Amino acid sequence: MVQPFKKNVLCIGAGYVGGPTMAVIAAKCPDYKVTVVDINAERIDAWKSDELPIYEPGLLDVVKIARGRNLFFSTDVDTEIMAADIIFVSVNTPTKTFGEGTGKAADLQYWEKTARNIVKNSKTNKLIVEKSTLPVRTADAMERILNANNKGIHFEVASNPEFLAEGTAVPDLLNPDRVLIGTHETETGLIARKELVELYAHWVDISKIISSNVWSAELSKLTANAFLAQRISSINSIAALCEKTEANVSEVAYAIGKDTRIGSRFLNASVGFGGSCFKKDILNLVYLCEHYGLSEVAMYWENVVKINDYQMKRFVRTMLHSMFNTIAKKRIALFGFAFKADTGDTRESPAIYVAKQLLDEQAHLVISDPKAIENAKRDLRGINGTIEYDSNPYSSAKGAHAIAVLTEWSEYKKLDYEIIFSSMEKPAFIFDGRNILDHQKLFEIGFNVFPIGKKALTHF
Ligand code: NAD
Ligand code: UGA
Repeated sequence: MVQPFKKNVLCIGAGYVGGPTMAVIAAKCPDYKVTVVDINAERIDAWKSDELPIYEPGLLDVVKIARGRNLFFSTDVDTEIMAADIIFVSVNTPTKTFGEGTGKAADLQYWEKTARNIVKNSKTNKLIVEKSTLPVRTADAMERILNANNKGIHFEVASNPEFLAEGTAVPDLLNPDRVLIGTHETETGLIARKELVELYAHWVDISKIISSNVWSAELSKLTANAFLAQRISSINSIAALCEKTEANVSEVAYAIGKDTRIGSRFLNASVGFGGSCFKKDILNLVYLCEHYGLSEVAMYWENVVKINDYQMKRFVRTMLHSMFNTIAKKRIALFGFAFKADTGDTRESPAIYVAKQLLDEQAHLVISDPKAIENAKRDLRGINGTIEYDSNPYSSAKGAHAIAVLTEWSEYKKLDYEIIFSSMEKPAFIFDGRNILDHQKLFEIGFNVFPIGKKALTHF
């Protein structure tokens, strides 16, 4: 019988990374069979339908190119492991919530369980690829678990971290800045490197496929996220100073971003960064530095997270103080709950922190978001207070004392704020946690406007 596919690629973990990454690999590599497995049957069913389990612009079109042709979704993890040549592991690696390293170290239980499952169900040599974000030197431990088998099977471990951002996952995957492949520089390691380069070279220019040793690849992923988050905390710290000095953070960001050594991207001051990875990965880096006795380095990076916490706190404090130090029973509309635009993901969203603090002050919240209402309900389940959910921003703002913009959805820029203003309690406040609105125009309509890192525009 002719083997129809050149290789069987398996991905364990059908989440925000595993699903889109494999969909693009399958679409671009019709000669590879790509199967994505997960223990979560509901998620797998959704991947088989047109209601994908995650909202990501353009993703369904890519899935449709390959699904049923060379892209398959399954819950039969064991059988698929047996058939695979290359296994990407893209399970979650959250921050530990128990024992040593609580609150900082990565919880590697899902990864280790997967490694043991791979050993149990394998009969042939396999290439195991770390797609999840892992502490530097995790591959060491994984290799020991994988290769401590008495079946004579060799598992080669490579690190191929993912750099996609949610909301732009499809373009990021189709046209990545780089693909990083970390392997051992041994004979089997170099074969693995070649195999992965061959896969990505189906659509990524070879000059963008970079190789390194395994440890550099693991550490590069943590470092990339730390640097990106650091830029946001840096500009947010300057935003606080702008608010005291009448400097304008957008003007400052524009001016410094013109320096090509600094660059203009990732300098938008905001209510704070969210998402499942920045905080987790920086705290993981902090934990690693502490583990290696590098306390000054650990402290340096921990401050990126501390400034982010400070920024969210500062946002709520500004709301409270400007609304006459009381927001009890006041209706406040939150525009956006997702951690960024174009995703329904709310993991570590600043909106969660802001909502909880406002509820502590006994505000009456109305939460609006085009894609994240269901996740918001889950995030706030069991929290005391008055919360309404309404995906329509107009009705959510009706009768409200204030609007807080927490996600930079472009539709919030296009709303008719005259209509919104006329339906609100007076004085009406707007706190733009993303600096996306036309503040002068809002002020002229009658709002008291509080941007980030800019002078507030008030009528009193
Ligand atoms: P996720 O929680 O969306 O998906 C992980 C999936 O793994 C879940 O569906 C879970 O059911 C499954 N899983 C867990 N244990 C399993 C097992 N033993 N067998 C089979 N399936 C199992 O997580 P995610 O956002 O896709 O992130 C995955 C990894 O990728 C993390 O390490 C993360 O840091 C990293 N990462 C995430 C992003 C992002 O934008 N979300 C970007 C780059 C890297
Ligand atoms: C981030 C990185 O950008 C990806 O490269 C990385 O792969 C991913 O983490 C990961 O490892 O999970 P993501 O968290 O999906 O991607 O989204 P970002 O676009 O980085 O935004 C993160 C947060 O920072 C959002 O809350 C966003 O609103 C905020 N942000 C971003 C700002 O406040 N200001 C900016 O200038 C940029």
